Amino acid sequence: MNDTDTHLRRTAPLETPTSLGADARRDISGALNALLADFFALYVKTKNFHWHVSGPHFRDYHLLLDEQADQLYAATDPIAERVRKLGGAAVRSIGHIARLQRISDNDAEYVTPLDMLAELREDNARLADRMRETHVVCDEHHDVATASLLEVWIDEAERRTWFLFEATRPGETPR
Ligand SMILES: [Fe+2]
Repeated sequence: MNDTDTHLRRTAPLETPTSLGADARRDISGALNALLADFFALYVKTKNFHWHVSGPHFRDYHLLLDEQADQLYAATDPIAERVRKLGGAAVRSIGHIARLQRISDNDAEYVTPLDMLAELREDNARLADRMRETHVVCDEHHDVATASLLEVWIDEAERRTWFLFEATRPGETPR
């Protein structure tokens, strides 16, 4: 092997072969990386609220948010690996995530428990919307594997939204 070959090997893009084509690689990888950034942002926000929630429902909310954070984190690796299987490059750093995320951070010193749950409920609902949009992109390129993963994650986001919605409903007033 000569120097040119070595150089080419070193600088060759990390393009895993895929029969889905270059357009699918670009469109689906792009959409998945934006989702990956959203998952990381929502994971950190959910942990932030898990750590800082207070009040009479502390134990319930603290545990609920931990469960939800675990579920968000569990999806991140399969999303990134899906990007690689398509031959794209996954997010590389916290800075990269910050440039792509559409979920806004909440750095407020104090947030009421109900505001925390309402904000996460909205974020999870938006995340499900964006996954549905990505599902359409997958359908256009006949990428059934990514579509199938998204279906599971959409269901999980809807479950998180449901729990957050029920937890923020006013209780029955005693007669
Ligand atoms: Fe914890």
